[in-house]
Amino acid sequence: MPIALTRAVSRSITNCELTHLERIPIDLQHAREQHRQYEIALKSIGCEVVSLPEMPDLPDSVFVEDTAVILDEAAIITNPGAASRRPEIDSIAEVLQKYRKLIYINSPATVDGGDVLVVGKKIFVGLSSRSNIEAVAQMQNSLESYGYQVSGVEVTGCLHLKSAVTNVAENTLLINPNWVDKNLFAGMDFIEIDESEPFAANSLLVGEKVIYPTGFPKTQKILEEKGIDLVLVDADELAKAEGAVTCCSLILN
Ligand code: GLY
Repeated sequence: MPIALTRAVSRSITNCELTHLERIPIDLQHAREQHRQYEIALKSIGCEVVSLPEMPDLPDSVFVEDTAVILDEAAIITNPGAASRRPEIDSIAEVLQKYRKLIYINSPATVDGGDVLVVGKKIFVGLSSRSNIEAVAQMQNSLESYGYQVSGVEVTGCLHLKSAVTNVAENTLLINPNWVDKNLFAGMDFIEIDESEPFAANSLLVGEKVIYPTGFPKTQKILEEKGIDLVLVDADELAKAEGAVTCCSLILN
Protein backbone atom coordinates (compact mmCIF):
# COMPACT_ATOMS: atom_id res chain seq x y z
CA MET A 1 0.00 0.00 0.00
CA PRO A 2 1.53 3.41 -0.93
CA ILE A 3 2.02 5.86 1.91
CA ALA A 4 0.97 9.47 1.32
CA LEU A 5 2.62 11.93 3.66
CA THR A 6 0.61 15.11 4.16
CA ARG A 7 0.63 18.03 6.58
CA ALA A 8 -2.27 20.06 7.93
CA VAL A 9 -2.80 23.52 6.44
CA SER A 10 -1.01 26.17 8.50
CA ARG A 11 -3.07 28.92 10.10
CA SER A 12 -0.51 31.35 8.65
CA ILE A 13 -1.02 30.23 5.04
CA THR A 14 -2.17 33.67 4.06
CA ASN A 15 1.48 34.79 4.49
CA CYS A 16 2.70 32.20 2.01
CA GLU A 17 5.40 32.75 -0.59
CA LEU A 18 4.02 33.98 -3.92
CA THR A 19 5.94 34.17 -7.18
CA HIS A 20 3.49 34.57 -10.05
CA LEU A 21 0.10 35.24 -8.45
CA GLU A 22 -1.34 38.36 -6.82
CA ARG A 23 -1.95 37.91 -3.11
CA ILE A 24 -5.64 37.47 -2.41
CA PRO A 25 -7.29 36.40 0.85
CA ILE A 26 -7.27 32.66 1.58
CA ASP A 27 -10.19 31.23 3.53
CA LEU A 28 -8.45 28.97 6.07
CA GLN A 29 -11.48 26.81 6.82
CA HIS A 30 -12.19 26.33 3.14
CA ALA A 31 -8.55 25.45 2.45
CA ARG A 32 -8.62 22.94 5.33
CA GLU A 33 -11.81 21.36 4.07
CA GLN A 34 -10.36 20.99 0.56
CA HIS A 35 -7.22 19.49 2.07
CA ARG A 36 -9.37 17.02 4.04
CA GLN A 37 -11.13 16.02 0.81
CA TYR A 38 -7.73 15.58 -0.85
CA GLU A 39 -6.69 13.19 1.93
CA ILE A 40 -9.96 11.29 1.46
CA ALA A 41 -9.20 11.05 -2.27
CA LEU A 42 -5.76 9.62 -1.48
CA LYS A 43 -7.35 7.01 0.78
CA SER A 44 -9.95 6.19 -1.88
CA ILE A 45 -7.19 5.19 -4.28
CA GLY A 46 -5.52 2.91 -1.74
CA CYS A 47 -3.00 5.13 0.05
CA GLU A 48 -2.29 5.00 3.73
CA VAL A 49 -2.34 8.70 4.66
CA VAL A 50 0.20 9.76 7.29
CA SER A 51 -0.97 13.21 8.27
CA LEU A 52 1.59 15.37 10.04
CA PRO A 53 0.57 18.10 12.46
CA GLU A 54 0.13 21.74 11.52
CA MET A 55 3.18 24.02 11.69
CA PRO A 56 1.51 27.29 12.71
CA ASP A 57 4.50 29.51 11.95
CA LEU A 58 5.39 28.01 8.55
CA PRO A 59 2.86 29.33 6.02
CA ASP A 60 3.77 27.00 3.13
CA SER A 61 4.29 23.84 5.16
CA VAL A 62 1.18 22.12 3.74
CA PHE A 63 3.14 21.85 0.49
CA VAL A 64 5.25 18.92 1.67
CA GLU A 65 6.25 17.96 -1.86
CA ASP A 66 8.84 20.73 -1.89
CA THR A 67 10.79 19.30 1.05
CA ALA A 68 11.77 15.95 -0.44
CA VAL A 69 11.99 13.76 -3.53
CA ILE A 70 11.07 10.12 -2.97
CA LEU A 71 12.84 7.46 -5.00
CA ASP A 72 12.73 3.69 -4.49
CA GLU A 73 16.34 3.66 -3.28
CA ALA A 74 16.53 6.88 -1.23
CA ALA A 75 14.83 10.14 -0.34
CA ILE A 76 16.43 13.42 -1.25
CA ILE A 77 15.92 16.06 1.42
CA THR A 78 15.79 19.32 -0.49
CA ASN A 79 17.18 22.75 0.31
CA PRO A 80 14.15 24.88 -0.64
CA GLY A 81 14.81 27.96 -2.74
CA ALA A 82 12.77 30.24 -0.48
CA ALA A 83 14.56 30.77 2.86
CA SER A 84 11.21 30.90 4.66
CA ARG A 85 10.64 27.26 3.72
CA ARG A 86 13.91 25.76 4.93
CA PRO A 87 12.66 25.20 8.51
CA GLU A 88 10.13 22.76 7.02
CA ILE A 89 12.67 20.09 6.17
CA ASP A 90 13.82 18.73 9.56
CA SER A 91 10.50 17.25 10.59
CA ILE A 92 10.02 15.68 7.14
CA ALA A 93 13.50 14.15 7.31
CA GLU A 94 12.67 12.73 10.72
CA VAL A 95 9.67 10.90 9.26
CA LEU A 96 11.31 9.83 6.01
CA GLN A 97 14.37 8.30 7.68
CA LYS A 98 12.04 5.50 8.82
CA TYR A 99 11.41 4.56 5.18
CA ARG A 100 14.44 5.55 3.12
CA LYS A 101 18.14 6.34 3.20
CA LEU A 102 18.37 10.16 3.20
CA ILE A 103 20.45 12.25 0.79
CA TYR A 104 20.74 15.95 1.60
CA ILE A 105 21.06 18.83 -0.85
CA ASN A 106 23.32 21.56 0.51
CA SER A 107 23.85 25.27 -0.28
CA PRO A 108 24.68 26.83 -2.66
CA ALA A 109 22.44 24.22 -4.27
CA THR A 110 18.74 24.91 -3.83
CA VAL A 111 15.84 22.83 -5.06
CA ASP A 112 12.12 22.53 -4.38
CA GLY A 113 10.54 19.11 -4.84
CA GLY A 114 7.94 20.77 -7.07
CA ASP A 115 10.71 21.29 -9.59
CA VAL A 116 11.66 17.61 -9.73
CA LEU A 117 9.93 15.34 -12.23
CA VAL A 118 10.92 11.69 -12.04
CA VAL A 119 10.21 9.52 -15.09
CA GLY A 120 11.72 6.09 -14.60
CA LYS A 121 15.45 6.58 -14.24
CA LYS A 122 15.35 10.09 -15.69
CA ILE A 123 15.08 13.03 -13.32
CA PHE A 124 14.25 16.47 -14.71
CA VAL A 125 14.91 19.50 -12.50
CA GLY A 126 13.22 22.78 -13.40
CA LEU A 127 15.69 25.66 -13.37
CA SER A 128 13.23 28.03 -11.74
CA SER A 129 13.44 30.85 -9.23
CA ARG A 130 13.75 28.11 -6.57
CA SER A 131 16.02 25.45 -8.06
CA ASN A 132 19.49 25.83 -9.54
CA ILE A 133 22.12 24.04 -11.59
CA GLU A 134 24.19 23.29 -8.45
CA ALA A 135 21.30 21.15 -7.24
CA VAL A 136 21.30 19.26 -10.54
CA ALA A 137 25.01 18.51 -10.07
CA GLN A 138 24.59 17.37 -6.44
CA MET A 139 21.66 15.14 -7.36
CA GLN A 140 23.53 13.62 -10.30
CA ASN A 141 26.53 12.95 -8.10
CA SER A 142 24.45 11.29 -5.36
CA LEU A 143 22.16 9.31 -7.62
CA GLU A 144 24.29 8.07 -10.50
CA SER A 145 25.24 4.91 -8.62
CA TYR A 146 21.53 4.03 -8.68
CA GLY A 147 21.43 4.52 -12.44
CA TYR A 148 19.65 7.88 -12.52
CA GLN A 149 20.32 10.55 -15.10
CA VAL A 150 19.60 14.04 -13.77
CA SER A 151 19.19 17.05 -16.06
CA GLY A 152 18.20 20.68 -15.63
CA VAL A 153 15.40 22.04 -17.80
CA GLU A 154 14.30 25.60 -18.50
CA VAL A 155 10.83 26.49 -17.27
CA THR A 156 9.09 29.84 -17.68
CA GLY A 157 5.86 31.51 -16.61
CA CYS A 158 5.15 29.37 -13.55
CA LEU A 159 6.50 28.57 -10.09
CA HIS A 160 7.71 25.00 -10.54
CA LEU A 161 8.45 22.49 -13.30
CA LYS A 162 5.49 20.43 -12.11
CA SER A 163 3.20 23.42 -12.68
CA ALA A 164 4.06 22.84 -16.35
CA VAL A 165 4.38 19.06 -16.71
CA THR A 166 3.46 15.96 -14.70
CA ASN A 167 3.06 12.21 -15.22
CA VAL A 168 -0.48 11.01 -16.01
CA ALA A 169 0.33 7.46 -17.09
CA GLU A 170 3.41 5.35 -17.76
CA ASN A 171 5.55 7.24 -20.25
CA THR A 172 2.81 9.89 -20.72
CA LEU A 173 3.15 13.49 -19.64
CA LEU A 174 0.44 16.12 -19.22
CA ILE A 175 2.11 19.30 -20.40
CA ASN A 176 1.69 23.03 -20.95
CA PRO A 177 4.04 23.48 -23.92
CA ASN A 178 4.07 27.26 -23.41
CA TRP A 179 5.89 26.85 -20.11
CA VAL A 180 8.27 23.99 -20.89
CA ASP A 181 9.67 22.65 -24.15
CA LYS A 182 8.29 19.23 -25.13
CA ASN A 183 11.55 18.43 -26.93
CA LEU A 184 13.26 18.08 -23.55
CA PHE A 185 11.31 14.88 -22.93
CA ALA A 186 12.31 12.85 -25.95
CA GLY A 187 10.65 9.45 -26.29
CA MET A 188 7.63 10.28 -24.15
CA ASP A 189 4.00 10.59 -25.11
CA PHE A 190 2.19 13.85 -24.39
CA ILE A 191 -1.25 15.10 -23.58
CA GLU A 192 -1.41 18.88 -23.98
CA ILE A 193 -3.56 20.99 -21.68
CA ASP A 194 -6.29 23.15 -23.20
CA GLU A 195 -4.55 26.46 -23.94
CA SER A 196 -7.22 28.45 -22.07
CA GLU A 197 -6.30 26.61 -18.83
CA PRO A 198 -2.57 27.28 -18.35
CA PHE A 199 -2.47 25.90 -14.78
CA ALA A 200 -4.02 22.57 -15.81
CA ALA A 201 -0.84 20.50 -16.12
CA ASN A 202 -0.46 19.59 -12.45
CA SER A 203 -1.88 16.14 -11.73
CA LEU A 204 -0.96 13.47 -9.20
CA LEU A 205 -0.48 9.95 -10.55
CA VAL A 206 -0.70 7.18 -7.95
CA GLY A 207 -0.71 3.69 -9.40
CA GLU A 208 -3.07 3.99 -12.37
CA LYS A 209 -5.28 6.73 -10.87
CA VAL A 210 -4.80 10.46 -11.25
CA ILE A 211 -5.90 12.98 -8.65
CA TYR A 212 -6.92 16.03 -10.62
CA PRO A 213 -8.40 19.46 -9.78
CA THR A 214 -12.01 20.27 -10.77
CA GLY A 215 -11.05 23.73 -12.03
CA PHE A 216 -9.96 22.73 -15.54
CA PRO A 217 -13.00 21.24 -17.32
CA LYS A 218 -11.59 21.44 -20.85
CA THR A 219 -8.36 19.67 -19.96
CA GLN A 220 -10.33 17.23 -17.81
CA LYS A 221 -12.36 16.30 -20.89
CA ILE A 222 -9.19 15.78 -22.93
CA LEU A 223 -7.79 13.49 -20.22
CA GLU A 224 -11.04 11.52 -19.93
CA GLU A 225 -11.17 11.06 -23.71
CA LYS A 226 -7.64 9.62 -23.54
CA GLY A 227 -8.83 7.11 -20.94
CA ILE A 228 -7.06 8.61 -17.94
CA ASP A 229 -8.76 7.50 -14.72
CA LEU A 230 -9.35 10.73 -12.78
CA VAL A 231 -10.28 11.26 -9.15
CA LEU A 232 -11.48 14.85 -8.97
CA VAL A 233 -10.84 17.22 -6.05
CA ASP A 234 -11.61 20.89 -5.48
CA ALA A 235 -8.29 22.63 -5.00
CA ASP A 236 -8.94 26.27 -5.84
CA GLU A 237 -8.40 27.63 -2.30
CA LEU A 238 -4.89 26.18 -1.97
CA ALA A 239 -4.21 27.29 -5.54
CA LYS A 240 -4.36 30.88 -4.24
CA ALA A 241 -1.13 29.99 -2.39
CA GLU A 242 0.38 28.63 -5.62
CA GLY A 243 -0.14 25.07 -4.46
CA ALA A 244 -1.59 22.28 -6.57
CA VAL A 245 -2.36 18.59 -6.22
CA THR A 246 1.19 17.25 -6.35
CA CYS A 247 2.33 19.84 -3.78
CA CYS A 248 0.22 18.52 -0.91
CA SER A 249 1.72 15.05 -0.52
CA LEU A 250 4.83 12.92 -0.73
CA ILE A 251 4.05 9.45 -2.07
CA LEU A 252 6.10 6.45 -0.97
CA ASN A 253 5.39 3.45 -3.14
N1 GLY B 1 3.38 29.19 -1.94
C1 GLY B 1 4.08 28.09 -2.44
C2 GLY B 1 5.52 28.41 -2.54
O1 GLY B 1 5.80 29.50 -2.96
O2 GLY B 1 6.40 27.68 -2.20
